[in-house]
Amino acid sequence: MDADAAGFANRVLTWYRRYGRRDLPWQHKDAYRVWLSEIMLQQTQVSTVIPYYRNFLQRFADIEQLADASIDEVLQHWQGLGYYARARNLHKAARIIRNQHQGRFPQTFAEVEELPGIGRSTAGAILSFAYGQHWPILDGNVKRVLARCFRVPGWYAQSDTMKQLWYLAESVTPAENTAEFNQAMMDIGAMLCLKSKPKCEACPLKKLCGSYLHHSQAEFPQKKPTRTKPHKSTLMLLHRYEEQILLWRRPPSGIWGGLWSLPEVDGVTAVELWQQSFLSMTQAPKLVQERVIRHQFTHYSLDISLAIIEMEQLPEQVSDSDNYAWVDIDALTNHGLPTPVRKLLSSLE
Ligand code: ADE
Repeated sequence: MDADAAGFANRVLTWYRRYGRRDLPWQHKDAYRVWLSEIMLQQTQVSTVIPYYRNFLQRFADIEQLADASIDEVLQHWQGLGYYARARNLHKAARIIRNQHQGRFPQTFAEVEELPGIGRSTAGAILSFAYGQHWPILDGNVKRVLARCFRVPGWYAQSDTMKQLWYLAESVTPAENTAEFNQAMMDIGAMLCLKSKPKCEACPLKKLCGSYLHHSQAEFPQKKPTRTKPHKSTLMLLHRYEEQILLWRRPPSGIWGGLWSLPEVDGVTAVELWQQSFLSMTQAPKLVQERVIRHQFTHYSLDISLAIIEMEQLPEQVSDSDNYAWVDIDALTNHGLPTPVRKLLSSLE
């Protein structure tokens, strides 16, 4: 282990001996109890788990009793803990241990990780807690501690990010006192390195923590950027008379401020009213065509539908004539049009 890693582990262990959780009911117990607690703790916090853990053990005192029980009875004892796949896997694994390991919880990493419901981190936790073996762990709390401390880029669904986190977990986990160290890392994650408002002043890692030193605790672990932008939609009206179309100059502020564009309404039911108000048209509009394009703004996407209205004659007047104009199709380039509107119009030929 290099000096930095030893410094990391020493800080964590010194803190643990003074402040860490050292009286949890499954600590210093056999592998069955450690395994059971780790499965219960996978999605659930310690204070919720403790009564379930005690109750479960009263009924299923060892692996054999668990393996011999019916799944219904196991699920009954799990009731209220949620994530019932954990109970099914626990029961399946107990039968595997009874049938293939003479009822004794296995001691090699490969055998443990092969059991249903046990991934790399849980296998490391059980083997270090039950047998003092040297394996790193990387549960949700430990990920957050390491991602912050080493300012790990990316988010957990990215394989490069997970590779780096596992590499760091391996690097900092000491061969001696592995169980205490692993419990301490979980405790630091649960008690100090909180998702929001972490208690950095009390943290034994603050002198080593890149996020603390750069004041960037809120930026790590990085979140997957949200892809789904809000959707908005609008209906643009293309009034066409022979070779002319009606343009509207947008208000000076807001999107496309001051550019010429097409008049807009919320939906087809508003078209007629708009025409009555702005073009004094009394005849029902004839919607010739409709098409939709999606335009991405930075903060939302806009679905633009187009209603093409063929006019039989030019209306006598347009209200607000400063901001409406009949424009020759050939002369459109003289008007500043927003790009998606220009594309929409040129796609019509
Ligand atoms: N979460 C998962 N394992 C845990 C443990 N051993 N102690 C506290 N919280 C945990």
